[in-house]
Order: sequence, then C-alpha cells, then structure tokens
Amino acid sequence: MQQSKNVYNFNAGPAALPSAVLDQAKLELTNFNNSGMSVMELSHRSNTYEEVHNATIDRMKQLLAIPDDYEVVFVQGGASLQFAMIPYNFLRDGKEAGYILTGSWSEKALAETKYFGTSYEVASTKNNEYRNIPTVTMNDVKENSAYVHVTSNNTIYGTQWKQFPQLDVPLIADMSSDIMSKPIDVSQFDLIYAGAQKNLGPSGVTVVIVKKELLEQANDDVPTMLSYATHVDKNSLYNTPPTFGIYMLGEVLKWIELQGGLHAIATNNEEKAAIIYDTIDASNGFYVGHAEKESRSLMNITFRLEDEQLEKKFLQEAAEAGFVGLNGHRSVGGCRASTYNAVPHEACLALSEFMKTFQQKNG
Ligand SMILES: Cc1ncc(COP(=O)(O)O)c(C=O)c1O
Repeated sequence: MQQSKNVYNFNAGPAALPSAVLDQAKLELTNFNNSGMSVMELSHRSNTYEEVHNATIDRMKQLLAIPDDYEVVFVQGGASLQFAMIPYNFLRDGKEAGYILTGSWSEKALAETKYFGTSYEVASTKNNEYRNIPTVTMNDVKENSAYVHVTSNNTIYGTQWKQFPQLDVPLIADMSSDIMSKPIDVSQFDLIYAGAQKNLGPSGVTVVIVKKELLEQANDDVPTMLSYATHVDKNSLYNTPPTFGIYMLGEVLKWIELQGGLHAIATNNEEKAAIIYDTIDASNGFYVGHAEKESRSLMNITFRLEDEQLEKKFLQEAAEAGFVGLNGHRSVGGCRASTYNAVPHEACLALSEFMKTFQQKNG
C-alpha cells in the first residue's frame, strides 16, 4: 500500500479537499449506505442516489440562503461551458450582453458571446494588469443590456469583488473560485455559476443558481442539453449526472455545516489570507503582491519576487519543502498561493515561515 505523504496543497484548482471528507468517502467507497456498492455504481434513478442528489441541492439552498424564487441545478462542461450557455439562453435579438473584465476568465466569457449575439465591455482593468476591481455604475451599462456578467474572484490575478455593482439589469456572476467561501446575498444576482473544483468538490460538476424570472425570459431555440430549462424541469436528472461528484459536493457541504457555516468559514479564510499577506507586506519589498490592497483576493494570493532567478529558486525550494501549487498561472508567471476553504491554517503558517526563512537567507 502506498504510504501517505504530507504536503501543503496550494493548488488553484482542482484544489485541496477537506481531509475529513476524503476519509468519509474512503470509508463508504465500496458500500455506500449499506447498498453493497459504491455510490458511483448506483443507478441515478435509484432512491438511494436520489436522496444524495436532493439532500445536496437542499444543503446548497440552506448554506447560501437561496431564496425560493431561485433554482439550483447541476450541469457538466465546467464553468467554461457556462460562458456559452449564458448568451445562448439569455442574449436575445436587439439586446447586448455587458461584461466587466477583471481577468482572463472574464475575457474568455466575453469571447464566447460572439457565437450568439452582440456584447460589449462594461469596464475593464486590463490597462492596470488586472490589479484592481473597477467601480461600476448604471452609467457604464447600456440600456438595452440583456445582462451584465461579472467574475467574483479572479483566480489568475488574485483580485476579488468586495461589493457587487447595483444595476437595473440582470447580474450574472462566475463564482467558480470563491463560492461558499463567505455568505453572499443571492438576491443581488439573477444567475450564479461555479465549477466545483475549488471550494465545492472534485471537478466534473458545475453548480448553477438561477432566478425563475430570468428563466422565463430564456430563448426557446436552444438545444436540449444546453437549455437551463431542461435541467430545471428534470431536477438535474435529464441525463446521467456526475453522481460521484454530486455525492462529494454533498459531503463538502456537510463539512461546511460542521465548521459552523459560511460566517465561520469566512472568518477562517480572512485569517488564513492575512497570514500570507502580512508576510508579503512585512518583507520590505522582497515579496511584492500583484493585486492592489483593497482588491486583494482571500482565495488566490498572487505575488512576485524581485528578480526572476530568485523567484525560480523560491519556487523550487518551496516545492522541495512540500509546498504544492505555488507557481503562478502559466499565462502570468510569478507565485500564487490558493487558500480555499479546505486549506488549513497550519499550511498558511508553514508557508509564512518558509517565506520568512527564504528571505533571511536570500534577502
Ligand atoms: C473564475 C474561473 N472561471 C472559470 C474557470 C474555468 O473553469 P472550468 O475549468 O471548470 O471550465 C476557472 C478555472 O480555474 C475559474 O477560476
């Protein structure tokens, strides 16, 4: 049997899962709920699976305090398929879709609209290398907007919205990298989507929370599998859902409840991020954060070292010391520590110590 290996997992996604959840999954892997088989082997039409499925939807609703006039569905294709499904369903003739650009993922979301209709940039911080979150008001939004799209947390650049714009048009948010990291007011949004592989579970399941009022306005010439209505009408069981991923999501949500819910999770995340940001800020410029302070993400902490050689050395020695996933995204380089819900305090403290020692030796 393979020996377990202790590492500090700072991967950006797929990312760390709570160890208690992995232990639970291991425990019931071959005999789920006394069915004599794994949850992966159950029919998705069986009562045993449907209980898991429905309990997971209920937990999503409870934890995020999702109002009754919203639906929760599980789809596949990752957040990237949502980039296309959103304009396919909601961009109508005579309307335009507005996108707030705060990084590569919002650029990709905007790029997909060209297959379906007309879109425009509401605001962009590209000129500032995506170091900040813009201020957006209705003055920036065209009157004929079908919706405005925002990326709540910019996984690559390490910035995060603290307050969302208040607009008179439907607001759609990609929350892939900060959903369930803090309480949110769902009623501010008409649609929220998130790939699971950061704070929710393994990759393969994508959560969509959509307001019924928006659904009523959806285009009706959308292929069956790409229409939100299909998944809503069939309770995310139109075709075979990613059953194991949904089971794991349910277990992660139970774990969040055990931590004390989203307020407790948010406090934890603030403390963890502060450990690393404080180390950066106290380094006299040895470590330089990418994001402007007021736009800093509590999920992805991006920073650089003064020269590239030193940065390479830092990343190499960190990897040797058991820190996994500290390389910045391949498109921007630098360093990035992703401190999602399941990353323990202990990992952040260890990274801080490592950073301080590295600076003492090389500063
Ligand atoms: C904010 C954000 N949006 C979208 C994506 C793309 O997600 P997926 O790989 O599930 O398509 C990612 C992936 O890291 C992301 O961080």
